[in-house]
Amino acid sequence: MILAREGASVTGLDASDAMLDIAKQRAVTDGLDVRFLRGDAHALEFADRSFDITVSLRVLMHTPDWRRSVAELCRVADRLVIVDYPSAHSVALIQSLGRRAAYAVRRMIRRSAAAAGGREPAEPYRVFSDRSIAEAFELNGFNIRSIHKSFVLPIALHKAIGRTGFTGWSEGLLERVGLLGLVGSPVSIVAERATRATGAPAEAPGPPARVFQRDGVAAERGSRGPREPGVGGSAGAAAPRT
Ligand SMILES: C[S@@+](CC[C@H](N)C(=O)[O-])C[C@H]1O[C@@H](n2cnc3c(N)ncnc32)[C@H](O)[C@@H]1O
Repeated sequence: MILAREGASVTGLDASDAMLDIAKQRAVTDGLDVRFLRGDAHALEFADRSFDITVSLRVLMHTPDWRRSVAELCRVADRLVIVDYPSAHSVALIQSLGRRAAYAVRRMIRRSAAAAGGREPAEPYRVFSDRSIAEAFELNGFNIRSIHKSFVLPIALHKAIGRTGFTGWSEGLLERVGLLGLVGSPVSIVAERATRATGAPAEAPGPPARVFQRDGVAAERGSRGPREPGVGGSAGAAAPRT
């Protein structure tokens, strides 16, 4: 939505009709012209390099074959891919293990918590090492251009406290003592294609792109001139190349 608001031509894709309906409603409310499609992040139905930028937020952590999803995001992106992920070197590891354990127990007793009258356990998710992400992108001809880490303390704790003042103060303190760089999460990265369509080396990169993170939505503002359409959405959204 951020990219569409900035004038990019955006396609949003998700596997869930319910999620697409929510996104469509938001686009209508905000008066934005966004194309929405149902699809699978493992097999995007777009031609190679058909978008300038692909963006996948809070999706890799759920897709069964995340390396395949990265390969698809890279295949359809001409220039940049933006993804985020919970870090294996953060408190997200503990939460992820807890959710997986809850799911395993549920499978063992072969009844859902909902059927037993309890709350449905939250969906489990995967955590990632920075190295495994960098390797997956390198395999697909992309280099990591910038990394942004968001929080040291669990997001759930910040939400429970509900005080932006506390979040700013505590996270600022933890950043100053160096913990954000070490154990911050979620991590947002911008990856850049290492070679151009001709096979020639990529243009010299401009200054590192900044990634702005707000409520789980990231947008990248490039540093190489005016042609900056983008991609946004669950598994990806993009600006068709002109
Ligand atoms: C935590 S939600 C994030 C939604 C949205 N990207 C956002 O940031 O608000 C995870 C989303 O991933 C989608 N998803 C999971 N596996 C997928 C797949 N294989 N292909 C496409 N979407 C998938 C789910 O349908 C769900 O909407």
